[in-house]
Amino acid sequence: MTLKRRDFLRSATLAGAAAALPSTLQGAIATARPSSASRAVVIASANGLKATSEAMQMIKNGSDALDAVIAGVNIVEDDPNDNSVGYGGLPNEEGDVELDSSVMHGPSGRGGAVASLRNIKNPSKVARLVMERTDHVLLVGDGALRFAKAHGFKEEDLLTEESRKIWLKWKENLSREDDWLPPHDIDAADVGETMPRWERTTGTINCNAVDLKGNVSGCTTTSGLAFKIPGRVGDSPILGAGLYVDNEVGAAGSTGRGEANLLSCSSVMIVEFMRQGRSPQDACLMACERIAGRTREKRLLDAKGRPRFNVNFYAINKAGDFGGAAIWSGARFAVNTGEPESRLVEMAHLYQRER
Ligand code: GLY
Repeated sequence: MTLKRRDFLRSATLAGAAAALPSTLQGAIATARPSSASRAVVIASANGLKATSEAMQMIKNGSDALDAVIAGVNIVEDDPNDNSVGYGGLPNEEGDVELDSSVMHGPSGRGGAVASLRNIKNPSKVARLVMERTDHVLLVGDGALRFAKAHGFKEEDLLTEESRKIWLKWKENLSREDDWLPPHDIDAADVGETMPRWERTTGTINCNAVDLKGNVSGCTTTSGLAFKIPGRVGDSPILGAGLYVDNEVGAAGSTGRGEANLLSCSSVMIVEFMRQGRSPQDACLMACERIAGRTREKRLLDAKGRPRFNVNFYAINKAGDFGGAAIWSGARFAVNTGEPESRLVEMAHLYQRER
């Protein structure tokens, strides 16, 4: 079924309406919890199953939410097989891995971020140091690298063999007019295929938590858009866009097309929607609707006027309720409310993907 713009599922968390909802929403409803008292919860993008388990284990042992989410995302940053974050992340168009990350700590109201950071596989740790050990909020590029080295971080090559091969395949197939050729038969006349913009990954992990004291924190970390122009910065390190935390309300973060989110500053809006009483899922859906409504460039829209890209949002409130929504169906998020193993929950969505 294709949903019309105005058919978006904003009121999906209403329990009474649950039976009428697509199955995509019912998982989220079934797991949403009453907001009677603050309870520990960790939520993350779908690549955060291990991250949420680790963070919850730390929270159960008494950790602050920020310590927990950073330890969680470090697992993904260190993982060579996740090519959207940290070590093994897909590089920029010149083959250099550039990382972005932000952190926000609810109890202190502080935040820190780094952008276009090279050669350091845990940008989330550097973002935290920007927060704690400078009078600034955001450091970029060479300055961020020099700051990291001053704090003892060691430079290393973040490009794995697999990521290099993916980048080389992209480069060799970028144009039939340039001098780079993919493997081909000597009889082939047309060599190279172009990769649609929409197939370039904008992975990322966002992870947010409420700890046992009811304090809220979050972290977003990414290698950004694959094959980007060097120096391109997405939404992840921009507080208010890729991450926002207010200890009185909750936290929100994003993955997906950062350019779209940068033009809407959705994370701070989601937190404000929650402050006004919206559930995390409803607040995320409202952010998706706003992005869809604000996207007017024809090249970014399909024949029905819908965004050709996806953006995903993840949110928790201080009471421990959680939810997520994406522009397009099929996305999931990871959540842990105290179990030994985290689980994946389908996200609400604006538009159903056509098969
Ligand atoms: N959302 C991640 C990025 O666009 O860089």
